Amino acid sequence: MIRSVVRGFGAALPKRAVANRDMEDKVATSDEWIVQRTGIRQRYIAGEGETTASLGEAAARAALENAGLVPDDIDLIILATSTPDNTFPATAVNIQDRLGIRHGAAFDLQAVCSGFVYAVTTADLYLRGGQAKRALVIGSETFSRILDWEDRTTCVLFGDGAGAIVLEAVESEGTVEDRGVLTAHLRSDGAHREKLYVDGGPSTTGTVGHLRMQGREVFKYAVGMITDVITDAFEAVDLPIEKLDWLVPHQANIRIIEGSAKKLGIPMEKVVVTVDKHGNTSAASIPLALNEAAADGRIKKGDLVLLEAMGGGFTWGSVLLRW
Ligand code: UT7
Repeated sequence: MIRSVVRGFGAALPKRAVANRDMEDKVATSDEWIVQRTGIRQRYIAGEGETTASLGEAAARAALENAGLVPDDIDLIILATSTPDNTFPATAVNIQDRLGIRHGAAFDLQAVCSGFVYAVTTADLYLRGGQAKRALVIGSETFSRILDWEDRTTCVLFGDGAGAIVLEAVESEGTVEDRGVLTAHLRSDGAHREKLYVDGGPSTTGTVGHLRMQGREVFKYAVGMITDVITDAFEAVDLPIEKLDWLVPHQANIRIIEGSAKKLGIPMEKVVVTVDKHGNTSAASIPLALNEAAADGRIKKGDLVLLEAMGGGFTWGSVLLRW
């Protein structure tokens, strides 16, 4: 059988880091409030010329280099983003062009903070279905451009950045000990869509709009939804959760991450946390965290790694893979 194996990883951040103290000049907030309620200490904010496509391209190039591949080796690009450079065409084709790739397919996938989990799941199906051999799966966001910088309840939470992995179709015995994506579980429930949304769009207002969130409402559902799909993943492969080497969660709030880990009995030593440095970068947060933990040697070949996210829609999901 075919398995989708991670062959390389990479990431890119804007040049400018903005500390919580710098946010105090913009809105009535404090470093103390932000750290206590979210765990965020700083975020990166895109400057002139830095866009979802440029950050995504940089992350993709880093992942290709890490994989020892060249752009022509790629025949599928899936970009998870809610902040495309343009309404259309897909920012993925912009990245495809920047990489000089003239074959294969490229498209955007929009599932807000769960975007990367949705994109890995989709790429896995393309590879296992024989539709592609090597996929670049990218999460890239410039949420700073859709924030209401006068709304302290949201503007302190989000940041910009990009991460990418190369997934490769590899012949496999298909056991839980073999490398690659083992199982994926995606969910959504549109009844919650007004709890976290953007108040504009091409078909409604004709404007880009700003992010709006009922934070407490989202928080209320987060831990339950996340732990459900994690439990589903372990049940699907019939492995005990103790076998997990690394939990790589979406980085929205340290309290959600710690709450989910605690509920499942996963010690925090096995959890990759980057929310302090990056803030919430939506679809980019998981590949940014993956890149950090794989680059510093924590995540090693053969490790059992679980990706999970929950966000706007609501959408939520998990991917269990052997690195
Ligand atoms: O990635 C997609 C998923 N998104 C999430 O997972 C976000 C989920 N939600 C959260 O992480 C949290 O709900 C927040 C971090 C957004 C907020 O934390 P909270 O503990 O739920 O705070 P709250 O909304 O209940 O607000 C508490 C107080 C309020 O004041 P009052 O009404 O108690 O007087 C807010 O007005 O904190 C106030 N507040 C702030 N104070 C200083 C809200 N934002 C700020 C701020 N600085 N930036």
